[in-house]
Amino acid sequence: MEDIMILGIESSCDETAAAVVKNGREVLSNVISSQIALHTLYGGVVPEIASRKHIEKINQVIETALLEAEVPLERMDAIAVTYGPGLVGALLVGVSEAKAISFATGIPLVGVHHIEGHICANYIENKDLEPPFICLVVSGGHSHLVAVKDYGVYEIIGRTRDDAAGEAFDKVARAIGLGYPGGPKIDKLSREGNPEAISFPRAKVQESEYDFSFSGLKSAVLNYLNGCKMKGERVCAADVAASFQKAVIDVLVEHSLHAVKEFGYEKFAIAGGVASNSSLREALAGRCAREGVRFYYPSPVFCTDNAAMIGTAGYYEFIKGAKSGYDLNAVPNLKLGER
Ligand code: KG4
Ligand code: ZN
Repeated sequence: MEDIMILGIESSCDETAAAVVKNGREVLSNVISSQIALHTLYGGVVPEIASRKHIEKINQVIETALLEAEVPLERMDAIAVTYGPGLVGALLVGVSEAKAISFATGIPLVGVHHIEGHICANYIENKDLEPPFICLVVSGGHSHLVAVKDYGVYEIIGRTRDDAAGEAFDKVARAIGLGYPGGPKIDKLSREGNPEAISFPRAKVQESEYDFSFSGLKSAVLNYLNGCKMKGERVCAADVAASFQKAVIDVLVEHSLHAVKEFGYEKFAIAGGVASNSSLREALAGRCAREGVRFYYPSPVFCTDNAAMIGTAGYYEFIKGAKSGYDLNAVPNLKLGER
């Protein structure tokens, strides 16, 4: 059978990315132009700046991806592009670019859900991973527990009621003066702190055993910092970081393993930017090993936003015969499982 080549394009937030993926799981190139340095000046992503930067970079990023893969554009079987969820102006750049290339070349277009992309990142390095499995998706904009029943068949079983996990990391990092993006900085600083030093709440959502809530935890951290300031007490940032991180991880681990048991699945995967957190990985690996669950996780480069994961998700859509028309539009609040 002839190889199926997908050109993946991602521009939903602050990374302009393109990748070439062969037969769904082999990444021939994965080019990411990050805007993090630019947004750091403002302490977070500025949507208008993100859109402008995507426009500047997208052609160059796609060209580099094709060159590095050593496969010409004409050889692509489909162009997979993130069309939601994300920042509308940022998404539009990728979607317009993909539509233009598809229209000019006749190569089919496949719209991809960004979160499905994150989940599919697990297929890249774990060649044996196949549904069904439970996936914990934790990123800057999303915290979902998902039952992956088959390729492209998802059931959301838990979600955050307020802040996303990554958002909580970013806000707490800002409060303790670490800057943006906070996740990797808290991850690093936590290694020097005591996770038991401060007792922060582990929120439970009434009547919804799989849902998350992180805003109470974030407020508890801010209250703790204010309290110290009022009393003139010195704050140990490493202890705050480690104790906060432990509170997030405890809840993520409990909910995830509970879902795996409840669904009777043997496999569990993680995805999204926060999935590259080293303590979260350790905690999940330990717990899965004890409970006889196979644990899957992507390398950090496939956890944060990238286009290889979009190529992989696009491949499974394409082989099912799903194609998008030229009316494909950016859908900023696209729900998982919606088409
Ligand atoms: O998946 P992603 O790149 O973008 C979204 O789709 O949101 O996730 C970015 C988020 C940010 O909130 C960032 O702080 C967080 O992932 N993050 C981390 C780590 N690396 C990135 N959070 C905790 N620990 C990390 N090592
Ligand atoms: Zn993402």
